[in-house]
Amino acid sequence: MISIDNDKCTRCGKCQRVCPAFIPVVEKEGSVALRHPEVCIGCGHCVDVCPTGAFLNDKFPEDSIHPIHRELLPSPESLMELIRSRRSNRTITSNPIPKESLEMIIEAARYAPTAQNSRQVHLHLITDKNLLHNVEAENLRFFMRLSRIMLFPPIKAICKPFLGKLYDEVPALMAMNEQFKLGQHPSICNATALLVFSAPKGYSFGPQDCNLAYQNASLMAESLGVSQVYMGFVQTAMYMMGGKRASQILGMPKGHKPFAIMGLGMPAFKYTKYTDR
Ligand SMILES: Cc1cc2nc3c(=O)[nH]c(=O)nc-3n(C[C@H](O)[C@H](O)[C@H](O)COP(=O)(O)O)c2cc1C
Repeated sequence: MISIDNDKCTRCGKCQRVCPAFIPVVEKEGSVALRHPEVCIGCGHCVDVCPTGAFLNDKFPEDSIHPIHRELLPSPESLMELIRSRRSNRTITSNPIPKESLEMIIEAARYAPTAQNSRQVHLHLITDKNLLHNVEAENLRFFMRLSRIMLFPPIKAICKPFLGKLYDEVPALMAMNEQFKLGQHPSICNATALLVFSAPKGYSFGPQDCNLAYQNASLMAESLGVSQVYMGFVQTAMYMMGGKRASQILGMPKGHKPFAIMGLGMPAFKYTKYTDR
């Protein structure tokens, strides 16, 4: 429910200017009318801009509203340095990722924008060794099966001219499978945690919302000194596998699809340089 405390409201009109659903309207008589409050998308802009706390939205109780500490914000130079220095550092060790770091990475993901503030991105963290092993095994099984089909001579003859790029990946997949047999988890870069970004199958902005959340999380990981690598292979395999099986492997809610997966871990060393792009 939305309401205005008329004793506190100064009719400054800020709520009217920011509301994406055009709900508050400052009327000529000097009051603020609320038109179709039922279409509120719960973005919280109204309570965040109200200078006197007159705008009340029961989606945001008082203890959920915080002042912005501008002195804590990074300078443009420091933010640019973070962006430039972020790399997919694949030197992941078995050292554990601090719990607080994982919590901050997840919180950063939650603050990303979502279409119509629908916040349908589900984040699932996998840290259990057996479950990580299972993701690696299922991923490689999927791609080895696909490679065998692709390399079947009649299929290769027809497909290779069109799918050359895909065929270029086959030697790397074979090498990964060999490393897996030696006890490594190459396709997940030996990650000690996987963060799965999923959204309902029928939600059309799933890819956008998940990958915006990914990028927030990846910059937070970089600033915490935690390695992150985009798990494109795993995401593709699990997306194509779909259904109950992929949901079980990745711990996603029923009916969800994975639109991004982040491999996380503590690096053996940090990069000291970045190259131009
Ligand atoms: C959609 C996508 C899929 C990716 N898939 C993988 C992957 O499966 N394995 C991997 O090691 N890196 C993967 N990466 C990481 C890219 O290789 C990496 O971002 C790129 O080489 C640039 O390097 P940087 O991230 O260090 O700047 C992927 C990146 C993106 C955006």
